[in-house]
Amino acid sequence: MQNYKNLCRLLAKYYVCTLLMFCYRVKTYNQRQQLAPVLDNLRSLGKRIGFVPTMGALHMGHISLVDKALKQNDVVVVSIFVNPTQFNNEEDLKKYPRTLDRDVKMLGEKGENIILYVPSVEDLYGNNVVSGHFAFDGLERQMEGRFRPGHFDGVGTVVSRFFEIVKPGKAYFGKKDFQQLRIIETMVKNLKLPIKIIGCEIHREKDGLAMSSRNERLKPNYRDAAPFIFKTLKAAKKRFGTESAYKVTEWVRDQFAGHELLKLEYFVIADEETLQPVARKSRSKSYRAFIAVFADDIRLIDNIALN
Ligand code: PAF
Repeated sequence: MQNYKNLCRLLAKYYVCTLLMFCYRVKTYNQRQQLAPVLDNLRSLGKRIGFVPTMGALHMGHISLVDKALKQNDVVVVSIFVNPTQFNNEEDLKKYPRTLDRDVKMLGEKGENIILYVPSVEDLYGNNVVSGHFAFDGLERQMEGRFRPGHFDGVGTVVSRFFEIVKPGKAYFGKKDFQQLRIIETMVKNLKLPIKIIGCEIHREKDGLAMSSRNERLKPNYRDAAPFIFKTLKAAKKRFGTESAYKVTEWVRDQFAGHELLKLEYFVIADEETLQPVARKSRSKSYRAFIAVFADDIRLIDNIALN
């Protein structure tokens, strides 16, 4: 009887393990030579291929992009690659969270129409780990471009390489990196690539903090302070209804001037189309406020549509 019970327990364990392995199974490729023919074959069968590029440490913001892509395509390629050429700070690159096992599990739960591409640096760059030079109609000179020199050349290089390999019909980018989204739209337009860029809304924690892989690194007191960023953005939006961009900007600077934990790097109100800072408001234009803040050594960015 005891032996029978042990056998049942063993079988149950085996069943659960197999089920988990099945649930978490994601077709994963590390080399473009292996991935490209698989995608060519899918394309020849008329399958629509969507693409969600990420640097991993996935959170619900990424998953919402994957969900949207799954709804609009037959197959979704998700890439996980911490791109060295877009980091202008060695420490930031070193400390960027890497959680591949957890990421694979999260994607596995999304079903079988996901293909994961986790290339090595060599697979994308060979032995020449440098960026190309890109002009994005001047969008690259504002905000992140001013404070992170070379960042958008790195983003342009890696995303254009991904586009060459994956050749998606649609690619998905979050609006938290709104400047990046505008830059990729411009790159696709300038290079006449047959790819539709889909911008996806910012995903927030319950307390308003924009979801970001970097949030994982916040110490508890900084994590508690961080929702102040979105709170200030919301208040700035309200003020922008009646005050000039200059006055709102001064007000935001004052809010952070006395803050114990959060250090403002920039706050800019800009035209959504050109990303040029607004000098005088016009009714026919859409504006957005952009912010970058240091919480300890962790840099957080966020933005809000103003009208
Ligand atoms: O937004 C990101 O995570 C990265 O900039 C991207 C688009 C994956 C390129 O490395």
